[in-house]
Amino acid sequence: MTDQRPRNRVLIFDTTLRDGEQSPGATMTHDEKLEIAELLDEMGVDIIEAGFPIASEGDFEAVSDIARQTKNAVICGLARAQFKDIDRCWEAVRHAKRPRIHTFIGTSPLHRAIPNLTMDEMAERIHETVSHARNLCDNVQWSPMDATRTEHDYLCRVVEIAIKAGATTINIPDTVGYTAPSESADLIRMLLERVPGADEIVFATHCHNDLGMATANALAAVEAGARQIECTINGLGERAGNTALEEVVMALKVRHDIMPFTTGVDTTKIMNISRRVAAVSGFPVQYNKAIVGKNAFAHESGIHQDGMLKNAQTFEIMRPEDVGLSASNLVMGKHSGRAALRDKLRQLGYELADNQLNDVFVRFKALADRKKEVYDDDLVALMTDSTSAEGQMQVKFLRVICGTEAPQSADLILTVNGVDHQVTAQGDGPVDATFNAVKKLFPHSARLALYQVHAVTEGTDAQATVSVRLEEGGKIVTGQSSDTDTVVASAKAYVNALNNLVVRREKTKPAEELKSVS
Ligand code: KIV
Ligand code: ZN
Repeated sequence: MTDQRPRNRVLIFDTTLRDGEQSPGATMTHDEKLEIAELLDEMGVDIIEAGFPIASEGDFEAVSDIARQTKNAVICGLARAQFKDIDRCWEAVRHAKRPRIHTFIGTSPLHRAIPNLTMDEMAERIHETVSHARNLCDNVQWSPMDATRTEHDYLCRVVEIAIKAGATTINIPDTVGYTAPSESADLIRMLLERVPGADEIVFATHCHNDLGMATANALAAVEAGARQIECTINGLGERAGNTALEEVVMALKVRHDIMPFTTGVDTTKIMNISRRVAAVSGFPVQYNKAIVGKNAFAHESGIHQDGMLKNAQTFEIMRPEDVGLSASNLVMGKHSGRAALRDKLRQLGYELADNQLNDVFVRFKALADRKKEVYDDDLVALMTDSTSAEGQMQVKFLRVICGTEAPQSADLILTVNGVDHQVTAQGDGPVDATFNAVKKLFPHSARLALYQVHAVTEGTDAQATVSVRLEEGGKIVTGQSSDTDTVVASAKAYVNALNNLVVRREKTKPAEELKSVS
């Protein structure tokens, strides 16, 4: 393959919808996946790994619909080293303008023991499966899973086989987040030096963050010659997650002086997609997360504020606008009109049709009545709430009696498929009473795996965003909601999670165990 890209161009391969989505609890709906894929394409990501088509009907459909809708990015699907996986993957990605098949097998001693293949048998399997993929598609990526714990001689041998069989990208995964920057660089250098044909293909780096080094490891691999970084928005992913897209992209932009590489990502789109991924995955971004955390651009200490007022560069290495944070957090209130709301939402990355705007405007007015000042984060919470508040059950009315004397009690009306149902329940505290009321109307055996409350802004009238994660038979679903009343937000988040559980139960999943590939 003759590569026409400049030597310093690094490809961004986003796997939020595959490696990110398989993080327990991060399941997204079909429409949410399509929305995130569209945002990734708009922001200039080069390759979108849209899913693992053989894992389930839902994954297959998501990958094929994303393949059909995507305008620019290469659309990639994951497949194990088996013909049936590769065929299914091809069926899904073939609709893309630029399809890619990504096939992998675990090559380290621990991973070789799972299919119980000898080194020679595995080498033969790699040759057969990569050749098969290449006969279907001219863009094939191959990954030796757990590469960083694979013997170097064997790694060189199998990488050479994959290149000869037609792989155009070789991805070197640090599957368990074990490597460190110098080792990550040495591994790429070693492969480039030792493997015949290595300079004809693109080397990719795929790092997990178990030791908090995923970003550093990916950048070190690039300095050594890798030209594709695999990453996820907000670093979403199993365990400690994957390399965060926003971190590597901004590091290459801000420190271009010492890392002279470019990407095709429009960094001003980062905040919007970060918020959307946090909302749909139910994984909130930690406050002090690099680039996209709430505090990443907050300068609160007196010394910092003084310095910032004199010259922003005193403490700021990048401008908030560079990542899509509006320079002014213009406050909205109950006198703000529809046009101002539309304009503000547009700045925050939400493009609304007239009927959607009408609905959001009603909710905005209700919020502004309860809360004097409505900030950007309040509007983002409002938007998240409007998109997740769909499903067969809705909270219509809630009144909780609480105080120093236990038990507390909750009166609840739930609308289920258009019909109102009323119940009263008691519990140990207002949230427990409310959840008991919901459970009386919708009995289920799902376990509450997470209940989390975040204040959206400051002040006692701040909205609370509540995240609820439920687990039933190994399947995990989440629900989120925001309200100035924490108990109301909790009730709605719980009901949203139950609505997702109903959808999840209905989905057929022929090969659920495949979801555990990291
Ligand atoms: O972490 C890993 O090894 C993976 C492979 C499937 C590429 O995600
Ligand atoms: Zn992975």
